Amino acid sequence: MTEPKDEVLIDVRGVGKTFANGVVGLKNVSLRVKRGEVVCIIGPSGSGKSTLLRTLNALETITTGEIEVLGHSVHASRADLNRLRTHLGMVFQSFNLFPHKTVLENLMLAPRVVVGIGEGEARERAEQLLAKVGLADKAEAHPAQLSGGQQQRVAIARALAMQPDIMLFDEPTSALDPEKVNEVLDVMKVLAREGMTMCVVTHEMGFARAVAHRVVFMEAGEVVYEDEPQRFFAAPANERLRAFLGQVLK
Ligand SMILES: Nc1ncnc2c1ncn2[C@@H]1O[C@H](COP(=O)(O)OP(=O)(O)OP(=O)(O)O)[C@@H](O)[C@H]1O
Ligand SMILES: [Mg+2]
Repeated sequence: MTEPKDEVLIDVRGVGKTFANGVVGLKNVSLRVKRGEVVCIIGPSGSGKSTLLRTLNALETITTGEIEVLGHSVHASRADLNRLRTHLGMVFQSFNLFPHKTVLENLMLAPRVVVGIGEGEARERAEQLLAKVGLADKAEAHPAQLSGGQQQRVAIARALAMQPDIMLFDEPTSALDPEKVNEVLDVMKVLAREGMTMCVVTHEMGFARAVAHRVVFMEAGEVVYEDEPQRFFAAPANERLRAFLGQVLK
C-alpha cells in the first residue's frame, strides 16, 4: 500500500446540508483526505454518502461549514468550478457515457474541449488509458456494445483522461452483475496502488478492507466513526457501526 503524503487535498470542516424541502442531508461533517490516501465511505441508505461526495465538486451546495479542495474554497462565490472539476474525476453507479460516441471519442472529448489539448495527444492518452483498464480492443465500440463492467471501466478511463488529482467514486459497482464487480474493483486497486487520491462510497467491504487507508461510517448525515480498516472491521469502538456491520457482513 502506498503511504499518503502530508499534503491535505480535501478539507471538509463542519459541513451541514439541508435540502430545500427541509430534509437534512449532512450534519456537521468533517473529513480530511491527504494526497495518495484512499478513503472508503460506508453507511446505510440515505445516510448522506452521495450528498457528501457531491458537495466536494459543488454538484451540491452546502448550508454551513467550509470545504477546501486542493487549497481552494469550493463553495465561495468566487470559486472557479470549471477549474476545480478538471482536477476531480467522478464515477457514478450509472456509467453516463455518451451513447452516440465511440469509446475512444468518449475519452478524448473532455481533454479536447475543456483543456484544449491536441487531437494526437488526446488520442494517445485515450489509447493508453484503455489499455490500462484492459479495453484496448474496444476503442471503436459504442457503449451499448459493452457489458456493464466494461462500460464502467471506460467511465473510469474517461475520468482519468483529465489527469485528475482526486477520483471520487459513488457506488461504482452497485449496478453491475456480481461477476463483473471484480473487474472494476481491480482497476480501482491498481489506481490506489499507484497513489491516486480516492474517495469511494461502496458496499464492497472486502475492497474497503484491502485497499482503504481509512474507512468512514456515516449514519443520518453524520460521520459516526472512522478508523484504519483493520480496527474498523475487527473491533470498532462504536455500537451503531457494530450493528451496521452485523447486518451487511452476515
Ligand atoms: N435533492 C434532494 N432533495 C431532498 N432530499 C434529498 C435530495 N438528495 C438527497 N436527499 C436526502 O438526503 C439524505 C441523504 O441522501 P444521500 O443520497 O446522500 O444518501 P446515501 O447515503 O447516498 O444513500 P444510498 O446508499 O441510498 O445511495 C436522504 O434522506 C435523501 O432522501
Ligand atoms: Mg448514494
